[in-house]
Amino acid sequence: MKRDDSYAAVLRRKNEIMKTSVGIDYSRYETGSIGFDYERMMEDTGYDLARIRDIQKKHGVGSTPLKELSNMTALVRRIAAQKKGARIFIKDEAQNDSGSFKARRASIACHRAKELGFAGVIAATSGNYGAAVASQAAKYGLKCIVIQECYDGRGVGQPEIIEKARACEAYGAEVVQLSVGPELFYTFLSLLETTGYFNASLYTPFGVAGVETLGAELVEDCLAATGRLPDCVVVTNAGGGNLTGTARGILKTTKTHVPIVAASVNLKGLHMASDHDFNRKSFTTGHTGFGMPFMTNPDRSDVPRSAARPLRYADRYVTVNQGEVFFVTEALTILEGIERGPAGNVSLAAALSLARTMDEDQVIVVQETEYTGAGKHHQAQLSFARSHGVEIRFGNPEEEIPGKSIILPERVDLIRAVDLDLDKIRVSSIKNQVKDHTRIERSDFAYLVAETNATADFVRRALTDLGVAWEE
Ligand SMILES: Cc1ncc(COP(=O)(O)O)c(C=O)c1O
Repeated sequence: MKRDDSYAAVLRRKNEIMKTSVGIDYSRYETGSIGFDYERMMEDTGYDLARIRDIQKKHGVGSTPLKELSNMTALVRRIAAQKKGARIFIKDEAQNDSGSFKARRASIACHRAKELGFAGVIAATSGNYGAAVASQAAKYGLKCIVIQECYDGRGVGQPEIIEKARACEAYGAEVVQLSVGPELFYTFLSLLETTGYFNASLYTPFGVAGVETLGAELVEDCLAATGRLPDCVVVTNAGGGNLTGTARGILKTTKTHVPIVAASVNLKGLHMASDHDFNRKSFTTGHTGFGMPFMTNPDRSDVPRSAARPLRYADRYVTVNQGEVFFVTEALTILEGIERGPAGNVSLAAALSLARTMDEDQVIVVQETEYTGAGKHHQAQLSFARSHGVEIRFGNPEEEIPGKSIILPERVDLIRAVDLDLDKIRVSSIKNQVKDHTRIERSDFAYLVAETNATADFVRRALTDLGVAWEE
């Protein structure tokens, strides 16, 4: 009988397709009525930190340099109070093959695919991950398909995503380019089913475990360079794998708590699924359009349970504006002679603001950079934004309205990381997870405490307010 490949039929077969294509039976980890055993899922990858390091070393990934940004630090000290202005360091992740930390994720996904005997890998991503998977697949002799959402309804491509398509093709991948809309997931499932390739999702335990080496290296590099642990690590946040993997790697390397700050570009008011807004964003990742929904509901990705769970690890969550990041991208180039891409510099913009209030003997680590060039370059993005009617000027970035204006700071002291209320985010997370439940079980309660990185009392209060009964 011929297989039914209609939209509805393919989506109905979703669980089977996932199980076959990723080699994980996610139902094994389900506990209670809402929870699941996250740590067991991570452990079951079967790769410990030492093994991951070894795999990465052999495949052009990791061991990136941690660089001190002395001129950026000097700039901050000019606007800071006396004895304030922490030393700023940056982990130069652009030096991974394929130009970003995403190589760490792709390396373990491709290694796993090869180990399980798959002929190829598929990833649905418009970002650096596509290039990373394509590059690693090339090393492993695997076929590679990357599915992107890159055009608006008029067929105009976002320059940054088009550049990623170029990179994927250069590494030998086949790129399927779609416009904004719901067909991405359907195309992804259909291709997994038709080809029998491995699902190299960003959100599997393999991918996130691959980022743990970044956290471990960062601790070791910082100790070697300064004799102390970082007083703060700033992480550009979107789907949350960057933060989760880095934090887990830090926790595996030191017993001392290292504060983790998530940073995203503020794209408030722009809608991710809107055709109109698609090309009015000058950032394709590292922004709140991904950061907020994925932090409050991580299981919205392309696997049943996401291994990226940033709310478990973030101590603070701050936003910066598009103009601030473009300004800092230019400053990094001019002051430090390091030309790097936009998403990686989101955390650098936040760090500039945070370093100002820290003591001058303290150390702040920006945990990544990414490559730049062509459509990824900030000048290309600014021209593209202008051609879409976005106003670009110098002024106070506080006045920026995403989609309408990009305001480059007229003075460095106007760069301000703005704190989001993590407790509000915790309540949203609990609300999302208990949706459709009037009672949850004992294991669910413990799961919510871990999931929100909150106290039992905090979770009790939230459940009471939501009218949900629980056991402890
Ligand atoms: C260079 C860079 N930095 C940060 C991020 C955000 O990572 P995550 O989605 O894991 O939060 C991305 C993801 O697209 C990226 O490509």
